[in-house]
Amino acid sequence: MSIMIGRSLFLFYITFVLYAWAHCNQHTDCTSCTADDGTLGIDPCCWNPSTSTCQTSLLGLCASGSTGVTYNCPTNPPSDFTYTDDFGRNYTLPFIASAYGDFNQAQVCLNNTVPDAQLIGVYNDSRNCSSVLALLPSQKTIVVAFRGTQGATQFVITALNLILQGPLVSFPPGGKVFSYFSSCFHGIWNAGLGANLKSLKQANSNYGLWVFGHSLGGSLASLTSTYAVHQKIFNSSDVKLITTGQPRTGDLNYAIAHDNFIPHSYRLINVADLVTKLPEKTNLDATNAFHHHFEIWYNQSMLTGANFKVCKQAEDSTCSSSTTLIQSLSNDYHNTYFNTPIDTWFGTGCV
Ligand SMILES: *[C@@H]1O[C@H](CO)[C@@H](O)[C@H](O)[C@H]1NC(C)=O
Ligand SMILES: *[C@@H]1O[C@H](CO)[C@@H](O)[C@H](O)[C@H]1NC(C)=O
Ligand SMILES: *[C@@H]1O[C@H](CO)[C@@H](O)[C@H](O)[C@H]1NC(C)=O
Ligand SMILES: *[C@@H]1O[C@H](CO)[C@@H](O)[C@H](O)[C@H]1NC(C)=O
Ligand SMILES: *[C@@H]1O[C@H](CO)[C@@H](O)[C@H](O)[C@H]1NC(C)=O
Ligand SMILES: *[C@@H]1O[C@H](CO)[C@@H](O)[C@H](O)[C@H]1NC(C)=O
Repeated sequence: MSIMIGRSLFLFYITFVLYAWAHCNQHTDCTSCTADDGTLGIDPCCWNPSTSTCQTSLLGLCASGSTGVTYNCPTNPPSDFTYTDDFGRNYTLPFIASAYGDFNQAQVCLNNTVPDAQLIGVYNDSRNCSSVLALLPSQKTIVVAFRGTQGATQFVITALNLILQGPLVSFPPGGKVFSYFSSCFHGIWNAGLGANLKSLKQANSNYGLWVFGHSLGGSLASLTSTYAVHQKIFNSSDVKLITTGQPRTGDLNYAIAHDNFIPHSYRLINVADLVTKLPEKTNLDATNAFHHHFEIWYNQSMLTGANFKVCKQAEDSTCSSSTTLIQSLSNDYHNTYFNTPIDTWFGTGCV
């Protein structure tokens, strides 16, 4: 009796496995593969970008290196603005560094690095989150840049870890974001950034918008760029976002909304920067915290001319996620973007 039950269960299992293999195996592209949840949604398929094959999941989990999330299918950045190392060094770095100072310090920093930048204002909130707003006539651009949490890297990591244990709240353009980021963003926006950004755009209607930020400020930059387009202050095609050391900012639906509003979006990662791995995920498909496109992975250093890889997946196992925790802790990657102490550089006038 028990042998018969055992045998029929075994046959059922074999049939199921064959079916699961067959129904996944028929897909030849990532979108249809990841959309296939199988029977009753219990045997979803997973796309493996390195072999371009659709595979069966194991108990609903994709093998490492493959994904079951359609948003995480490989895609290329838009060709009308690809990130260059020059752009990061000439603009992203100095504007972020200036945001760590007060108005005068920011002015000195910009005078020494981007001479035609006109500093308009500095805006902060009760949590000491802060941003600068500037005009860059030579590029017909308005610039907003956010500083990160201050202090030793260890402190920053601990603080961000605490922040990312907090709740997720709805973000008007779509999805949910970590509540601390949302509070800082709304605080700064309502402290004058929103109104002044709007009037600056009205006075310079043919200007675009660049948004930069480091660490916590990278998340605030992400939210600000998305919100500015959602509020119709700028058109999508006129906005560029470039962040450094940005943690996961919101859930999968936020990542999707962000990409719809901001197609020209790049997250720079210095080798194995631990902050960009926060909050930690047991597997890259987990949807409660999801990076958005496009990771730019400096895989060895950020010296002038260093190699970087433009990663095709928002959560890409072949980019910085492939580095280990030991590697992350071996070096102060977080505060040395472009080989510059990004959080204290303003102290020497950014020279
Ligand atoms: C960055 O600055 C260098 C040196 O001044 C210049 O040659 C290069 O064209 C600049 N690149 C961009 C993208 O502004
Ligand atoms: C920055 O440059 C502007 C224009 O050249 C000048 O008026 C201003 O005094 C400078 N500010 C500082 C703080 O160096
Ligand atoms: C911004 O910072 C200043 C100086 O630290 C503080 O007095 C002010 O209350 C802050 N602004 C907001 C909106 O909390
Ligand atoms: C707020 O930021 C300023 C300037 O970056 C820093 O000097 C100050 O210690 C910070 N204040 C608090 C309460 O963290
Ligand atoms: C967005 O683009 C449309 C069509 O080109 C244009 O009419 C509109 O003024 C633009 N809006 C902004 C905020 O730039
Ligand atoms: C870094 O990336 C470059 C270019 O993609 C590659 O040639 C090199 O092997 C990579 N190095 C490491 C340590 O991953």
